[in-house]
Amino acid sequence: MLRTNTCGELKINDVDRTVKLCGWIHSIRDHGGISFIDLRDKYGITQIVFNGIDEHLSRETVIQVEGTVRKRDEETYNSKIPTGEIEVFATKLEILNESAVIPFDVSDNVNVSDEVRLKYRFIDLRRPVMQENLRFRHMANLAMRKYLTQEGFIEVETPLLVRSTPEGARDYVVPSRVSPGKFYALPQSPQIYKQILMVGGTDKYFQFAKCLRDEDLRADRQPEFTQLDVEMSFVEQEDIFRVAEGAVKSVFTECLGKELETPFQKLSYTESMQKYGSDKPDLRFGLEITDVTEIMKKSEFSVFNAVIASGGKVKMLNPEFELGRNEFDSYISFVQSIGGKGMAWMKVTPEGLDSNIVKYFSEDVQKEILSVSKQGSLLFIADTEKKALEIAGKLRLKVAEDKNLIDKSKFCFAWIVDFPSFEWNEDTDRWDPAHHMFTMPKKECLQYLEDDNLHPEKVLADCYDMVLNGVELASGSIRICNPDIQRKVMNVISYSDEEIQEKFGFMLNAFRYGAPPHGGFAIGFDRFIAMLRGFLDIREVIAFPKTKSAESLLDGCPSEIKDKQLKELKLKLDFVKKQV
Ligand code: AMO
Repeated sequence: MLRTNTCGELKINDVDRTVKLCGWIHSIRDHGGISFIDLRDKYGITQIVFNGIDEHLSRETVIQVEGTVRKRDEETYNSKIPTGEIEVFATKLEILNESAVIPFDVSDNVNVSDEVRLKYRFIDLRRPVMQENLRFRHMANLAMRKYLTQEGFIEVETPLLVRSTPEGARDYVVPSRVSPGKFYALPQSPQIYKQILMVGGTDKYFQFAKCLRDEDLRADRQPEFTQLDVEMSFVEQEDIFRVAEGAVKSVFTECLGKELETPFQKLSYTESMQKYGSDKPDLRFGLEITDVTEIMKKSEFSVFNAVIASGGKVKMLNPEFELGRNEFDSYISFVQSIGGKGMAWMKVTPEGLDSNIVKYFSEDVQKEILSVSKQGSLLFIADTEKKALEIAGKLRLKVAEDKNLIDKSKFCFAWIVDFPSFEWNEDTDRWDPAHHMFTMPKKECLQYLEDDNLHPEKVLADCYDMVLNGVELASGSIRICNPDIQRKVMNVISYSDEEIQEKFGFMLNAFRYGAPPHGGFAIGFDRFIAMLRGFLDIREVIAFPKTKSAESLLDGCPSEIKDKQLKELKLKLDFVKKQV
């Protein structure tokens, strides 16, 4: 046996026991011939005392010690660690593996660049906070698995080498050696497979699924990430919400010891956009957006009038506190930095409105503005409705962050429902599916898919997002299981019949043989864990993440492959290598 105990385990009632411990040398101090080693493993730190050590021992060297547990002198108790009342007086020390000089300390307050942390991930992972992140992730995974299993779901693995899936990002592709010139895609999600599982009678499926998407990365996006993916047959939206909420709730109960209130509140997409300027609203604070276009129509302020005359809107935020001139100026700069034209402002004072533009507003108009305002400050954004809402939404978040309006200990969940089915893509001049093309339009909107009454802009979808504190945590939908509706939707997004057949023929074919009504959702598991652990960057909860340019600094991928491999794949690289 290499060890009798871990380094976090020995307490006062172990005194006089002979023990063997293994671990890393966290620190070493020499006090006149007596050496003190803080020996660390995943479970904690134990102080080891030695009567002189001949060898030089560098930090992070892995050793095994054998010795006796003894009580420390009371004045040397360390109340910060659970083993702080004892030490192990070592009679034997064996070096199991030496460590090279470490690039940074194994400590939670490490101050090194992300690049260094990722390159030396094996050291970074030794930090207690990282170990706790991995442990928490595992426990959350377990809680969700347990919950879903109790609900009658089974986990089914779906392939990694697939035909391109329709999630809207670029595919990672894998060349086939056996069929030269042909490629697999890595799945952006198991979407099609989970639907086919429903046609296959599986009824209740889940999977902790790796998804791969070649898209621009940011703090909450990785090229490969994990979803808790779920699909259910013979269900309506409410059945799906109950299961998704139950899965989330199980983690709160089992891993955080907190009771989460369900059902989550629901907001329509339109309401969310109008009130919060976002389809993933942060509901930990109010500061809602008000439309004041009708009032501003009556003003003589030419900036507003011009916008309104061209069909635009004026949106208002009303932080209920006084802001100074510098603060207004800094918000104007902020608005411009995110693509807005500008921002007008007013102060609500006991004497009425005060601002550099107040002269353009008659007394009546001022009264009307006051009637929709509370105390504090008024911030106005005038633009096309879409832009004004987007900018007011971002400004809302900025003001809340600046003024500490957000209670960071809160978890505010909501469902956003009734999304539009399609969104117009200005670059390609065509309709794109807003979620994905297997999303069922709401029954009452099916009429707008008929050739003689085609109004894609009026079609709402039976799809939903779960949002948490301003982040899209999950999304899903009731699926189309009727080939006729599916074809109509595909026609709106301008897929020719050949394209449909080529890309999704196999799925539509499966649907011809008795497809049950079905629906599901997928929770971004990395996002969920990161948020519960208080991180914005999902890399903190992924053992081996990629950089923002999708590279792994640990193993140096992506990397070139050998000419022999290219030949086997019958591939020739046709690009000019940059001269470095
Ligand atoms: P969607 O594409 O919305 O839906 O993805 C579901 C959830 O996965 C998370 N997510 C990501 N997390 C980290 N890095 C990424 N690059 C990334 N992209 C998405 C988000 C998101 O809400 N098949 C559908 C689900 C369904 O309809 O059942 C799907 O994949 O938290």
